[in-house]
Amino acid sequence: MVRLTLTRSVLLSVIVMETLYLMMSLQRLATLEEHCAADEGMHVEGHDIKKKAWPPLYVITPTYRRNTQMADMTRMSQTLMLVPNLHWIVVEDAEKTSQVVRDLLDRTGMPYTHLCATMPDEYKDQKSMGKGVFNRREGLKWLRENAHEGVLYFADDDNSYDIRLFEQMRTTKKASVFPVGMILSYGISSPIVRNGRVIGFHDAFQAGRKFAVDMAGFAVNLRVLHASPQATIPLRLSYLEDGFLKSLRLELEDLEPLASECTEVMVWHTKTHKPGTPNPEHISHADFDTNLPDLYRKILR
Ligand code: UGA
Ligand code: MN
Repeated sequence: MVRLTLTRSVLLSVIVMETLYLMMSLQRLATLEEHCAADEGMHVEGHDIKKKAWPPLYVITPTYRRNTQMADMTRMSQTLMLVPNLHWIVVEDAEKTSQVVRDLLDRTGMPYTHLCATMPDEYKDQKSMGKGVFNRREGLKWLRENAHEGVLYFADDDNSYDIRLFEQMRTTKKASVFPVGMILSYGISSPIVRNGRVIGFHDAFQAGRKFAVDMAGFAVNLRVLHASPQATIPLRLSYLEDGFLKSLRLELEDLEPLASECTEVMVWHTKTHKPGTPNPEHISHADFDTNLPDLYRKILR
């Protein structure tokens, strides 16, 4: 009888403990689910908000064939891949688009437009012509025809970009400006900002320019571009940026200083050292059955 009572009470306490454990587990599960649901809700909601509120960025990059092109374009593409809602317009300075550039663009998985345009023959002997003008103009033409809202930025293929800059320029209302590092003898080109307003430009090359900025130093809202259908990049070397901004009928007071009121550098005018040109004559007869012929075939195009 005593043994029976003991067994019964052990059994009872086991049941009580099991029930308690089950209740606690259920409670933990419920808390966890609640937590996950909140997380998921926030995540989904936040994502949607961002998606809707982020105006697209259109980045126009002129590029041309040279020994350093793939190094520059690989670095640049893998920077842009980190930026959401960015449409890359790559315009080759060539008669036709190339497969290597197309393959690089495909590898990025980002939205892109691949175009080409080159300098017409009649301009070719003229000195003091800016670089990459006709291909940038081709990019502008595509934008005018295909994009209605968002922000335009001209990004040369050999510069170095901090991805935070792309997020800052998204809010550009008319035109935003910011410092560019490693420019000319001052080693910097920057808007001069007083009390939050742009009052001029600190740049070693003034030369009568109203906007003494580098091509990498400004971004423009597409509304401004569409409001001036004739606006374009002039041909004259060193006056491309000034001419373009003037043709958009912008004034100094329209400029929005970014990068903590132009106290930080988020883009640099880097230049890639010019290497030797790969020459298959450097492969010796003994290497003909190695990787070298294939390697040279791929880099010579
Ligand atoms: C400076 C400015 O930063 C450029 O924005 C400006 O276009 C250029 O001067 C100029 O007008 O001369 P810089 O570094 O001297 O730039 O020039 P590059 O980097 O050689 O060329 C600027 C862009 O144009 C690059 O994206 C480059 O790939 C492209 N480019 C250059 C062409 O599309 N075709 C060319 O024949 C040369
Ligand atoms: Mn450059």
